[in-house]
Parts: sequence; structure tokens; C-alpha cells
Amino acid sequence: MQRKSDIIVIGAGAAGMMAAIRAGKRGRSVVVLDHARAPGEKIRISGGGRCNFTNIHAGPKNFLSANPHFCKSALARFTPADFIAMVERHGIAWHEKTLGQLFCDDSAKDIIRMLLDEMCAAGAALDLATEITGVERTDAGFRVSTGQGAYEASSLIVATGGKSIPKMGATGFAYRLAEQFGLAVLETRPALVPLTLDPGLLASIAPLAGISAPAEIRHGKTAFREALLFTHRGLSGPAILQISSYWREGDEIVVAIEPDIDIAAQLKVAKQLNGRQSAQTALGEILPKRLAQFLVEREKISGNMADLPDKTLLSLAASVQNFAIKPSGSEGYRTAEVTLGGIDTAALDSRSMEAKAVPGLYFIGECVDVTGWLGGYNFQWAWASGFAAGECA
Ligand code: FDA
Repeated sequence: MQRKSDIIVIGAGAAGMMAAIRAGKRGRSVVVLDHARAPGEKIRISGGGRCNFTNIHAGPKNFLSANPHFCKSALARFTPADFIAMVERHGIAWHEKTLGQLFCDDSAKDIIRMLLDEMCAAGAALDLATEITGVERTDAGFRVSTGQGAYEASSLIVATGGKSIPKMGATGFAYRLAEQFGLAVLETRPALVPLTLDPGLLASIAPLAGISAPAEIRHGKTAFREALLFTHRGLSGPAILQISSYWREGDEIVVAIEPDIDIAAQLKVAKQLNGRQSAQTALGEILPKRLAQFLVEREKISGNMADLPDKTLLSLAASVQNFAIKPSGSEGYRTAEVTLGGIDTAALDSRSMEAKAVPGLYFIGECVDVTGWLGGYNFQWAWASGFAAGECA
């Protein structure tokens, strides 16, 4: 079998489906290939099954890239409002959860259904369970060989995502293809991922597993204020996932629990009002009790509040709001939400996502060296970069 179309998209994820919709609406014939049995598998599991499909505050500052300017053009031409308009046209109910993060009221499957309906309306074909065995340049464009025969097109859009969650079919295919065509690929690493601790530190915080608290986590000049979660393997929760994209092996992070509360002042008031209570009890009125016990024991503080000098209360407050931890590693691609790094944006045109040295070849979505914060930003990049390629291919 030999199939011809204007455009082949490899990868029926968020970016690939959006590119197919836009190109199909422009009258281009499009076929989307994916080795998975179902499209949009990451959309299905995202946002706890409700898909945090965009963030109303999404802008270039929310993305990490060797070239922070690269994402500007695509983000400006397909905005969160554009995606919300599509969601509303399909009657999908949504809500803002927190910090501009938009979720489906019902199910992430509504987003997949919407994209499939849009693809159908745009005349884009979808061939699932299709193993790609080779890609080559031809006089007319590209030939993609698969287990089901060859496909030919003048343009090829690669949207196969990153390396995160190999169990779900993540392959690193886009990076190998980029290298095949001479494009540079920057070092990749797991991002938006829980951090692990060395066995000694892990044993000491073991009693805290399951506790969550508002926190500010700092790494150098970067800081995130969201929840921190202690786990049996180390540190997790949104604040840790966010900082994991900036952290590197050997670096420290600085943790401040309940950053909006003046803990020193509250402890001094507690000392005046109820001097007979212990520091553990006083701190336990502000923090989860197990966490308060852990911190007081770690500071080796005992006796009544009335007997504790203010200096001791200040150092207890500092241990809550300014303690440095050196994570030993991360949980890796097994649980990472995204892959940092990837195809060097210097090789791509920021307006179209086309490879500058290989006309007709486009890379979009997570495989490109543009990585969003946690909170709907990564899907916004997938929609925007997919739209950009679909507009130009
Ligand atoms: P994506 O990975 O979605 O799609 C790639 C497609 O290519 C897949 O269908 C895959 O099967 C296919 N493919 C791969 N290799 C292939 C090969 N060799 N041959 C053929 N096909 C191949 N982001 C966000 O903004 N909000 C959220 O709520 C979440 N939640 C979330 C939860 C979890 C658990 C994870 C792992 C990730 C998220 N994310 C997220 C991140 C988000 O899922 C991610 O950024 C986008 O899915 C990236 O879209 P892409 O289309 O680039 O890749």
C-alpha cells in the first residue's frame, strides 16, 4: 500500500491533533499516524483525569528553553482564549481550579473527543497502531515506512512527544529523527518530577510521609509557592514538581513551610498567652502536628514555652521557613510529567516550527526544547506549536 497526502503528522497527541485540525481546515490533505491504539493517551490521564487543558496566564515567562524568546510567536498566535473558544463551541463545561489553571468539569475524554471531532470535520485521517519503521527524504517530500506500508507527503510534522512515561509509549523518536536530519538535540532530562532523598535523610523524614503543607520552595532566584508533599520516596507536590525543572544534581533547595505566616511572631504570642504549653503543641497549632513534632525534635527543643528564650523560638521558626535540603535525584522519566530540553530551537523557525535546513519538516509539542511550568502550560504549548505548524505546512 502506498498512500499520498499533503501532510503526514507522526503522533496523535495534543500537538499532532491540533496541527492536523489547522492544516485540514486550510484544505490540506492530512494523515496522522500513531503507534498507539488510541489517540491522546496523555490527555486522557492528565490533570487527574480532568485535563488541565490551559492556563489563562500562559506567557513566555512560564516556559524553560535555551532560547526564552522562541515560544513567543506561536504563543501569541494561538492563545488560551482561542482554546477556550474551541472548548466552548463543543459545549464542554470547565472551571478554574487555582492559579489560572483550567480543567474540564467532567472528563479529559471530552477534550480528546473534541479534537477527534475537529479532525473529522477538517477531513484529517487517523491511522492508529501504525509502527514507523523508517523516514526518508524524497524528491517530492518525505516517505514514511510503516508496518502497514508507505506514506508519502510533501510535509512531515513530527509530534511524538518526549521521553516521559515510557510505559505509555514515549519513545524519544523525535530526537532520533531530528538527528537523522542533522538537527541539534539539547540534553534531555525528566522535569515536573518528584525529588528523591538519600537513605539517611529519607529515614529521618519517614514519619512525615503523607503530610502536605503550603510551602515556598526556592532554587537560586527561582521560587514557587504551592503545596509540598512528603512521600515514602522523598518530596513531591506541585511546589516540588515546579522546582524540579530548575534543580540539578548536587544543588540544594530551600524550603519554607507556611510562607504566609509569621511563625516567629505567632510563637512569641503563644509564649505570652500560654507559657505552660510545649513548643511542640504551640507549633502544632500552626503546622500539621506530626510535622511540628518532627521539627521540634530536630531542633532538640524541650520544656515549656515560658522557659524558652526568644532566640530559641526564632531558630525554631527559621527551621520551619528556611531549611536547605539536598535532594539525591529525581524519580526519572517513569513519573515525570514532561521532558526538559530536546530539539534545539535554533534549528527551527519560530513562526512555523519548520526545520530551517530541511524544508517541509516540522517539530512541535514536547519534543522541542520548550518546557512549561506545571498548570496547563505544557498543553498550551502543544496547542500553540501545533497550530503554528498546521498554519504553515
Ligand atoms: P504527547 O506525548 O501527548 O503525544 C505524542 C504521541 O506520539 C502519542 O500519541 C504517542 O503514542 C505517539 N508516539 C510516540 N512515539 C511514537 C512513535 N515512535 N511512532 C508513532 N507514534 C509515536 N500538561 C498540561 O498542560 N496539563 C496537565 O494537566 C498535564 N497533566 C499531565 C499528567 C501526566 C501524568 C503527564 C505524563 C503529563 C501531563 N501533562 C500535562 C503534560 C502533557 O501531557 C504533555 O506536555 C503533552 O501531552 C505533550 O503533547 P505532545 O503532543 O507533544 O506529546
